[in-house]
Amino acid sequence: VKGNLHPMDSRKVKDKSATVNGQPIDYYELTMQPFQKQIYPNLGPANLVGYNGIAPGPTFWVQKGTETVLRYHNNQTRNCAVHLHGSWTHSPWDGWASDLVEPGQYKDYYYPNSQGARSIWYHDHADHVTGTNAYSGLGGIYIIYDPSEDYLGLPKDNYDIPLAITDKIYQSNGDLNVPTENGIPNFFGDVIQVNEQPWPYMNVEPRKYRLRFFDMSLSRPYDLYFEQPNGDWAQFQVIASDSGLFSYPVTTSDIVIAMGERYEVVMDFSSMAGQNITLKNSMNQDTVQEYENTDKIMMFVVGNTVSDQTNNGDVPSTLNPSVAYPASKTTVDHEFNFQMGGEGEWTVNGISFNDINNRVLARPPQGTVELWQLHHAGGPGVHPVHVHLVDFQVVSRTGGSRGVLPYESAGLKDVVLLEPGETVQTLAWYGPWNGLYMFHCHNLVHEDEGMMVSFNTTALAN
Ligand code: C2O
Ligand code: CU
Repeated sequence: VKGNLHPMDSRKVKDKSATVNGQPIDYYELTMQPFQKQIYPNLGPANLVGYNGIAPGPTFWVQKGTETVLRYHNNQTRNCAVHLHGSWTHSPWDGWASDLVEPGQYKDYYYPNSQGARSIWYHDHADHVTGTNAYSGLGGIYIIYDPSEDYLGLPKDNYDIPLAITDKIYQSNGDLNVPTENGIPNFFGDVIQVNEQPWPYMNVEPRKYRLRFFDMSLSRPYDLYFEQPNGDWAQFQVIASDSGLFSYPVTTSDIVIAMGERYEVVMDFSSMAGQNITLKNSMNQDTVQEYENTDKIMMFVVGNTVSDQTNNGDVPSTLNPSVAYPASKTTVDHEFNFQMGGEGEWTVNGISFNDINNRVLARPPQGTVELWQLHHAGGPGVHPVHVHLVDFQVVSRTGGSRGVLPYESAGLKDVVLLEPGETVQTLAWYGPWNGLYMFHCHNLVHEDEGMMVSFNTTALAN
């Protein structure tokens, strides 16, 4: 573990306020541009592409109900499309993979931010180059917060830390080894980074922290745990996932997080003053020869004094009493098989995103609940399935060694992990808007090779 973690700050990029329909709106400009930065210690700089010259891009903290317009300029050489993952975005601004912002162009994206507080993220979504763009640095954190949650007394400000995990490969000159577009079924890096720094450490105080985990890797899921110096795994409380706070905290000593997923935990370092706590990963990739240090993520160096005791009490046993579980339903509306079509062709029910005449696989009427059955029907690696627009309940998981994990069912999700052979049922309310949206495997290598299709939430007749 080397280097010093710079917690991501809220480098706000608000340039000017604008007015839309007579209402003020928060307006930001972001430029997607190449830059160089030394990431790997003692080697040369890496060529990255970031938003406003940093990777991950600026972290947004947007108060629930504040509408935003983000103008993204594409000043790099590849096409871009920006998706705000986990947002109730109307279809024209959802980052449809062929709605490209070409080099030299810009596009304005509008976000209502009217849904419940949650940790979401923005990343590139351009057809065939999403993985390359995201890997080069085009990803960032966007947090919708709601002051009406403050009474819960959860750790905040300096004690509320977003942590974006990725895995990379570097060349001996320090530049990134960018995964080639063709041929590889998965990308696994040997260097684990948090907020773009390899195996960093972070100084913490002996008290509670809210840690917001994001898996921004291309193909690698993690099973995270906190290792104490005596080898014990520390317990912690999971309080939120993709769609915000759970009804109640879930206590565990490890948590599986796959690409695109978010989990928020409260970790209490108060009994660990003076110790080094290592965040580790117990999940190996068995389709490849696993690298040596991918079991380590970062280190928390626990100091001896607490400078601020506010928001350091017990996590309340009720967090969000009104998680919006969809009305239950037992008949399956759609079955989707995530599988390998032919050589290097990844599909959903045999259809890939290239199949432009056949890629709308569901038409849920706006405002209705549907039960979808998702199956990992083959191909190396895992298929974490992401459905745009909606929050879903993970109803069941069969066909493998595990069922639904307690922290998967304590709140609503927008990504669910399918390991080989597994079948998962998801229940979602298709709204609030109508329109065309994507759903896909969030293993970005698979997505870029076609494992992406769409649904059309059809408008109700008046
Ligand atoms: Cu995080 Cu369709 O993506
Ligand atoms: Cu996949």
